[in-house]
Amino acid sequence: MTSDLPNLPDMRIPAHVAVIMDGNGRWAKQRLRPRAFGHQAGVKSARRIVRAAHNSGVKMLTLFAFSQENWQRPPIEVSLLMGLFVRTLRRELGSLHRSAVRIRFIGDHGDFPNDLTALMQDAESLTRDNAGLQLIIAVGYGGHWDIAQAASSLCRDGLPITPQAIEARLAVADLPHPDLLIRTGGEKRLSNFLLWQLAYTELHLVDTLWPDFDEAAFAAALSWYASRDRRYGRVPEAS
Ligand code: IPE
Ligand code: IPE
Ligand code: MG
Repeated sequence: MTSDLPNLPDMRIPAHVAVIMDGNGRWAKQRLRPRAFGHQAGVKSARRIVRAAHNSGVKMLTLFAFSQENWQRPPIEVSLLMGLFVRTLRRELGSLHRSAVRIRFIGDHGDFPNDLTALMQDAESLTRDNAGLQLIIAVGYGGHWDIAQAASSLCRDGLPITPQAIEARLAVADLPHPDLLIRTGGEKRLSNFLLWQLAYTELHLVDTLWPDFDEAAFAAALSWYASRDRRYGRVPEAS
């Protein structure tokens, strides 16, 4: 798979990549299979992209696995997804740990099944000191929730609400914002993902459905990123 990786100077490799892994249901529908089949294929794709990110020199990878709005899906699909998270985490944790991946979960986990929250805590504490890829999994996550929880924690402490203070209390306050956002599945929206953190992120929106998103597609996203001129409101360097 390394042959698919672009040969980019280090500074052109995004340190932090965020991904909206969308299109599992449509992928299954194309094959006349139930949505569950698409979600299972989506897990394989996630595993592939974690490895590709690691091999490409990406330092942080944030994956959107379940939004707060996804609770509104039919209960059967929600419980299927929860079961899939539990099984996947049980199966993958050992090898992620051996690869020095540090795992963290962000989101409002209040309504999650107990076995899943216990497993998430175990995964976080087991991998806490790992210095490899930082893998952040957004489950039960909403950008509005994240900003609101930061603001209310400042209110509780009687502190003024400034951009810097909010920044310091977001769900993952110690990591830089994503450099690159990849959304698969063709939609041109953020669906309440990292609203605050994506302010100056480069957006790579592709039609490929998530289960079809492979190493070559990831490499293409990195190459596209390398060609971007990030101005942050300033004028181009040469001007
Ligand atoms: C993304 O795929 C996975 C989750 C939201 C959990 P979808 O399930 O949204 O697939 P589509 O968009 O219906 O194809
Ligand atoms: C976004 O996908 C959430 C995840 C990929 C986890 P959705 O399928 O829920 O987004 P919408 O409903 O098309 O905006
Ligand atoms: Mg979708």
